[in-house]
Amino acid sequence: MKGGLVLDIDEFLSDCMSALSETEPRTAVKQLLERTVSDPEGVARALPPERAELVPLHASDEMTVLKVIWAPGMVIPPHNHLMWAAIGLYGGQEDNTFYRRSGAQVQESGGKELRTGEVALLGDDVIHSVANPLSVFTGAIHVYGGNLTARTDRSEWDMETLEEMPADFARTQRYFEEMNAAQSRSSTGT
Ligand SMILES: [Fe+2]
Repeated sequence: MKGGLVLDIDEFLSDCMSALSETEPRTAVKQLLERTVSDPEGVARALPPERAELVPLHASDEMTVLKVIWAPGMVIPPHNHLMWAAIGLYGGQEDNTFYRRSGAQVQESGGKELRTGEVALLGDDVIHSVANPLSVFTGAIHVYGGNLTARTDRSEWDMETLEEMPADFARTQRYFEEMNAAQSRSSTGT
């Protein structure tokens, strides 16, 4: 980032690719994200957190980078990624609840609250649900060590029954769009 004013997305993505070729790619990506979200305003100018969004900025076999904007109060059910992930927050708060498998279901096994400027590294086998506990949008950059958008063997677990089912990136994206529709209905009082 130059001048600390607006994050240069192309430069950030090429820095991510360089980080992947280092000896410890996860650590290198985490450190890059930490440097990036240490100027949260600069990231927000480039990736405005104004509506719920799950947008790939990059997706290849090596890496996926997502702009993730959580609507106020939004919750997504437990899911796995089957690849490591680094999550950097540049606005709001992202509450992670972790789970472990228990037969066809999952059981809660802890949590982590991520706040603006913080970065979390998640291992390949993590199962988590995510909630935005605030009444403002939460902005995050998620980096994954593989192609999250194309992987078809991932799972999610029903929020109520905690039963396992196939995860689907496109369905999750539609859920983000539904949040926007719900938000505009409630703001117009219809
Ligand atoms: Fe996730």
